[in-house]
Amino acid sequence: DKLHHFLHALPKCEHHVHIEGTISPELLFSLAAKNSISLPQDDPAFGSVSALEARYKVFTSLDDFLHYYFISMSCLITASDFEDLTYNYLSHAHGQNVHHAEIFFDPQPHMSRGVSYQTIIAGMDAARMRAAVDLPKLSIEFIPCLVRHLPVPAAHDMLAEVISSGHFADGTLAGFGMSSTEIAKHPSLYTSVYETAKAAGITNLTAHYGEEGPAEYVRDALSLLSVRRIDHGRRSAEDPDLVRKLAETSTMLTLCPISNVVLKGVERVQDLPIREFLDAGVLFSINSDDPAYFGGYILENYCAVQEAFGFTMNEWETIATRSIRGSWCSVERKEALL
Ligand code: ADE
Ligand code: ZN
Repeated sequence: DKLHHFLHALPKCEHHVHIEGTISPELLFSLAAKNSISLPQDDPAFGSVSALEARYKVFTSLDDFLHYYFISMSCLITASDFEDLTYNYLSHAHGQNVHHAEIFFDPQPHMSRGVSYQTIIAGMDAARMRAAVDLPKLSIEFIPCLVRHLPVPAAHDMLAEVISSGHFADGTLAGFGMSSTEIAKHPSLYTSVYETAKAAGITNLTAHYGEEGPAEYVRDALSLLSVRRIDHGRRSAEDPDLVRKLAETSTMLTLCPISNVVLKGVERVQDLPIREFLDAGVLFSINSDDPAYFGGYILENYCAVQEAFGFTMNEWETIATRSIRGSWCSVERKEALL
C-alpha cells in the first residue's frame, strides 16, 4: 500500500545489525561444506535447512538464539567468506534504501578459533570498497563488540589488538560496543575495558542493555561506561527518570522490534514502548539485529512498527531525521543525509 511504498522510499540508517546475524541456514550449510566444518550431530535442527529454519521460529530467549548464532558463525573462515557475507547484506540494505549502515561484528569468537582480526576486517573492508563503487549512495562503518559470555581478559586482548590495528584512528571502525548474553552481566564488569577504549580516544561507545535485563543496567551503563548509545534499551521505559535522562542527553536507543518479539522479550510489537519514546523525545532508530534469524531486514521492521503504531508520515520523518542525527558519521555526511 501507500505507506509501505513511503517506508521503502524513506532514506534509512541502520545502527544495529550483526554481520554474523546475516548468515541464513542455507548459507550456513554451504559454508560448512566448503570449509569442512562439522555441525553438531546431536541436534536434529542441523539435519537440514528446513529443520534449522523451523528451529529459528521457536526461539525461547536471547541465550537460546545465541547458541545457534555462535555455532553458525564458526563456519566463517576466509576473508572472502566475510567479504561475501558483508557485501550481500549491503546490497540487500541498499535495495531497501538504507543510506547509512553501521555494522556490528564480534571479533572474539572468531579470534578464539584461529581466525585473525586482520582476516575479518580485510574481508569486511573489501566489501565496503566494492560497495563504494556499486552502491554509491550507501555509507558504511564497522563497530566491533566485546562478547559478554567470554571472560573479561579476552575482551581486553581483543580491544588491544583492534586499537593497535589503527582502524579506530583511520575511521574504518566507528566505535566500540558489547553484545551477547545480558542477564548477570552488569555494566560494572566492563568498566576497565571501556576505560581502555576511552584512553585510546574512542568516544563512540555503545552497549547492548535493556533487551532482557532491567532499566537499572541501562542507567548504570550510562554512568559507569559513558556510552552514548544503548542497543535495544527497550526496558528503559520501566523507569520514567531514565527516559527523561535519555532524552536530555540525546542518547540513542537502537531498537530492534522483530528481534524482541522472536526472542520473547515482548509478545507483540505493539507491546514495545515506541510511542512513549517518541513522545518523550528519546532518540531511537529501528533496526534488524540478526535478519537471517528473525525473518526481517530493516524495512520489515519499519513496516511492523507501522502496523503496530500507525504513525503519521510526519512522525516517520521525525524518526528518520532523528536516526540521521544519531548516526556516527561526519557532520558533512549527516548534512548530505538530511
Ligand atoms: N548478538 C547478536 N544479536 C544479539 C542480541 N540481540 N543481543 C545480544 N547479543 C547479540
Ligand atoms: Zn544486537
